[in-house]
Amino acid sequence: MAKYLVTGGAGFLGSNVVDALLAAGEKVVVYDDLSTGSKKNVFDWNPKDVKVVEGDVRDGKSLAKVAKGCDYLLHFAAITGVARSVEDPETTLSVNVDGTINALHAAREAKIKRVIVASSAAVYGESPVLPKEETMLPTPYSPYGASMLMGEDVARVFYTTYRLETVCLRFFNLYGPRQDITSEHSGVVARFIHALLTGKTPMVYGDGKQSRDFTYVSDAVDAIRLACTAPKAEGEVFNIGSGNRITVSGLLNIIGSLLEREIIPSYADPRPADIRHSLAETTKAQEVLGFRPRVNIQLGLVKTLAWCRRSLGKNVKLPPPRPSSAMRDATD
Ligand SMILES: NC(=O)c1ccc[n+]([C@@H]2O[C@H](COP(=O)([O-])OP(=O)(O)OC[C@H]3O[C@@H](n4cnc5c(N)ncnc54)[C@H](O)[C@@H]3O)[C@@H](O)[C@H]2O)c1
Repeated sequence: MAKYLVTGGAGFLGSNVVDALLAAGEKVVVYDDLSTGSKKNVFDWNPKDVKVVEGDVRDGKSLAKVAKGCDYLLHFAAITGVARSVEDPETTLSVNVDGTINALHAAREAKIKRVIVASSAAVYGESPVLPKEETMLPTPYSPYGASMLMGEDVARVFYTTYRLETVCLRFFNLYGPRQDITSEHSGVVARFIHALLTGKTPMVYGDGKQSRDFTYVSDAVDAIRLACTAPKAEGEVFNIGSGNRITVSGLLNIIGSLLEREIIPSYADPRPADIRHSLAETTKAQEVLGFRPRVNIQLGLVKTLAWCRRSLGKNVKLPPPRPSSAMRDATD
């Protein structure tokens, strides 16, 4: 049994990781300021197995105190999303860069075995080359992408200079249970599902032909757990994605067919700093970490829809069924 410090453990990715650690019998300390994370996410955990500390990663002293006695540090606390970083680059940079530096200092002081740092496909920016390989020169296109790349750089330097084992994982468009479906700033899967289940019109920014590599959260959790112990992973950066891409319009079509509803979105201008296409090359993660994505987009969306329906409860208000599915709905 090992002890894990999970910063951002009350958030979407962090809370899914904590669930997996608890299921494996590990001890966990969560450090989170609950700014976008939710008390609901931590509600079911037994305080005997998880200690939840409310704190800001910009407070290095408090983080260092919490890190004492931990074996691994998983760093997920961040201001996420391109749009939010365009609105407020200062906060994004200070939380994501200073927070990562503080996490690395705390880990070094506490003699932590390995630090996993969440990074993002946003580091690749607008280069048209697909798929994205780790050897490509990162050219971030948004303050968010820049903050993730700076975090990676500092993590690598802590490895080369102080031999603190760090592994950076560049996640590609995560989706799944516990993603905040009510937030404007959430991922497109969460925004579409929330709009559709609450009777609103989903909004597509741009022409809908932009594409993404949508990655189900349990695949990301698998990658994180593998990265904690994989030999020869220290000091490295890995893409974590499904290895497939679909357009945003294609995503809406799949959700529409799963809901058996005809979906007519509204369109708005593309958002500033949004990239056009994204796709992960995951050979390095497969070879070094043993990573294998297991959940395809259809299955991932079925699971996500089921979770969203449960969490919205009585607030689910679906639009009228497609004419072809009206008979089936009538007999449901
Ligand atoms: N969701 C995605 O599609 C995606 C894609 C690529 C990378 N990532 C990265 O994965 C990590 C987790 O993202 P997520 O999607 O779970 O986001 P999230 O917003 O659900 O989780 C972030 C957590 O960090 C906490 N937090 C924010 N600022 C903090 C601060 N100053 N001090 C302490 N805690 C703070 C929030 O309360 C939240 O619980 C982030 O580093 C993000 O950049 C996410």
